[in-house]
Amino acid sequence: MNINTICVHGAALDNNPTGALSVPIYQTATFGHPGVGQSTGYDYSRVQNPTREALERQVAELENGSEALAFSSGMAAMTALMELFEPGDVILASDDLYGGTARLFDNISHKNGLTVVQADTSDLTALPGLISPGVRAIFIETPTNPMMKVTDIAAVRKLAGPEPLLIVDNTFLTPYFQRPLELGADVVLHSGTKYLGGHNDTLAGFLVTSQPELAEKLRTIYKTTGSCLAPFDSFLIVRGIKTLGLRMVQSQASALRLAGWLANHPKVTAVHYPGRPDHPHYELSRRQATGFGAMISFEVDSVETAHQTLEKVDLIIYAESLGGVETLITYPMLQTHSDLPEATRESLGITDRLLRLSVGIEDVDDLIADLEQALS
Ligand SMILES: Cc1ncc(COP(=O)(O)O)c(C=O)c1O
Repeated sequence: MNINTICVHGAALDNNPTGALSVPIYQTATFGHPGVGQSTGYDYSRVQNPTREALERQVAELENGSEALAFSSGMAAMTALMELFEPGDVILASDDLYGGTARLFDNISHKNGLTVVQADTSDLTALPGLISPGVRAIFIETPTNPMMKVTDIAAVRKLAGPEPLLIVDNTFLTPYFQRPLELGADVVLHSGTKYLGGHNDTLAGFLVTSQPELAEKLRTIYKTTGSCLAPFDSFLIVRGIKTLGLRMVQSQASALRLAGWLANHPKVTAVHYPGRPDHPHYELSRRQATGFGAMISFEVDSVETAHQTLEKVDLIIYAESLGGVETLITYPMLQTHSDLPEATRESLGITDRLLRLSVGIEDVDDLIADLEQALS
């Protein structure tokens, strides 16, 4: 089926004696056994729960994978993924990443004996020198958060060969615009808190793969470490996904207009949005994805303008996170990326003049009017 249909119907239950249109919330921790050594197929909700199972089936289908696992947050998914690796393993990762992922690498993975080498994965010329035999995995965020750099997923797969596990954080584009498993990735990661949920009301995370052996390993880690998504939260994400396509199309249309408007504003010195033809990865974005998404970062002329904009926005909310129906503005250096060392932040371009917009589904003229008065 096509993606909008999967969004609406993909979580429907096979066994639905009441004909309920929405997935029932199985708010239970455990399940009774019909007899000794017998199971209904459900034993304990950390292992599996019918509401979560319906969501997992749907997300797997959206990403064209065979299995998805739903976690209590994107970081819970990321933490479980890291349990695949052993002390001494090397992971090559994009240099410009969500700050929480970088914090996990620096504070937890490092302590557990993993070496994470960060590099600009969008620069394919530098990669062959970095992919040594010790590299067990390549972790890519594309587009990156917050500088919106785009990595050629299929080219990385080709350069790396079949061995290293290729992991792609697909949070920004969602399967609506980009399906990394079809481009050669082994695992897709999501913060489901963002576009999949879409309403800024639920935390969730996903891992998706199409390799049964890998899925089995991840499932064992999942049920052992226990960061599963709760039944009610699973229901909320199922409900959010129903409108994923509509929201992505609307947000992207507004983002395209806003990016153009920002680029012409006298107080804006740079706009980073892969949907603008002057973005260095515009052609690549067109090739490997069917859309550009609705995340924009931009630089203003001074730190005073940055602070003033954050303080004066009225309709747009100054808040961390992204991917919901409400438009949010973020100050990466103080919020999402505050834990990065200052020198690293500066070298990536995450300065005190950089702002990030997650464009929601409000009327774009109202968003422009709000930014105009905030910048003026
Ligand atoms: C690209 C990306 N990946 C992962 C995460 C982590 O997800 P969560 O906040 O659901 O733990 C975030 C959070 O902002 C993110 O932006």
